Amino acid sequence: MSAIRRSVITGCGSYLPETILTNNDLAKRGIDTSDEWIVQRTGIKSRHIAADGEYTSDLAAKATLAALKHADVKIEAVDIVIVATTTPDSTFPATAARVQEKIGMTRGFAFDVQAACSGFIYALTLADNFIRLGQAKTIVVIGAEVLSRIVDWKDRSTCVLFGDGAGAVVLQAQDGKGDKTDRGILSTHLYSDGRYYDFLCADGGVGSTQTTGYIRMEGKEVFRHAVTNLSKVVDEALLANDLQPDEIEWLVPHQANMRIMEGNAKKLKLPKERVVITISRHANTAAASIPLALAEAVADGRIKQGQLIMFNTMGAGFTWGAAVVRL
Ligand code: UT7
Repeated sequence: MSAIRRSVITGCGSYLPETILTNNDLAKRGIDTSDEWIVQRTGIKSRHIAADGEYTSDLAAKATLAALKHADVKIEAVDIVIVATTTPDSTFPATAARVQEKIGMTRGFAFDVQAACSGFIYALTLADNFIRLGQAKTIVVIGAEVLSRIVDWKDRSTCVLFGDGAGAVVLQAQDGKGDKTDRGILSTHLYSDGRYYDFLCADGGVGSTQTTGYIRMEGKEVFRHAVTNLSKVVDEALLANDLQPDEIEWLVPHQANMRIMEGNAKKLKLPKERVVITISRHANTAAASIPLALAEAVADGRIKQGQLIMFNTMGAGFTWGAAVVRL
């Protein structure tokens, strides 16, 4: 094996808006639903909701500052900021530019990635490639969303599912041996299939209806594809790194549905305690869900440096993917 450049996660941070909305609060608001239905079908009990005037860039900037502090990295050292989001502050410019301003970063460059719930893994892949090609040494990758602004609060089949929040990681270049014992991103695996665009989408857009639209989803179709696609991409990620399922120490999945995550864990033969689950308190925060879950499990000491993690995700597009990372 020859030495190769690795992108190592040296810090993580997160931010959740103060307001918590429980399932019972939703029912009290007149939505024809119940705590029992939501918990049984999804595992969600509550979600955070951004305050009036609190934007994706605010959540992202707070998560970024926490991640930089955790990594002990100064803003002056950051080469690139990438924000994965489906709920940008404005149609343009990129929310990442606003984050750059809010964290006081005056060098390098910043841009957004749109891959819906898979956005964080897409952004992580881009960052890894910048680092491995030597174009950057330090990158902040953020997933941030205010999905509460694009849910149709009259549609019970979707409005109960989503929440707001942000998570960020700091990636730094380090040389590795080129084998699976290295720290850093060992591999990433991305897919999309536009034939399924309409199964999960917004029913509007700035370039079509000149509105943002609301989230629409054929839940059963998404569920069915998620189970198959996630299983395949996890197999591919294991094979690419010559790993057996039992070598994975943590699964940090996109938090869309408890039943999907449990099925995934079973396939990896991972006990429930080795799956980081935040859906009960965060709901589905799209691009933010994986970095939020990671930051929580690192902060509370569950995930430790040196441990092997599988990320996986499936979302609108359809997009899906996985990453194998040694912290
Ligand atoms: O993050 C991107 C990826 N997203 C996903 O992976 C989501 C995948 N899909 C899912 O997680 C599930 O399909 C849902 C949680 C969205 C829905 O669960 P389901 O078991 O597929 O339920 P369903 O949509 O088939 O609805 C079953 C019943 C229906 O009533 P009928 O027709 O059987 O009388 C719905 O009208 O549940 C009803 N229902 C509700 N009842 C109470 C739908 N939403 C609600 C609700 N409260 N909020």
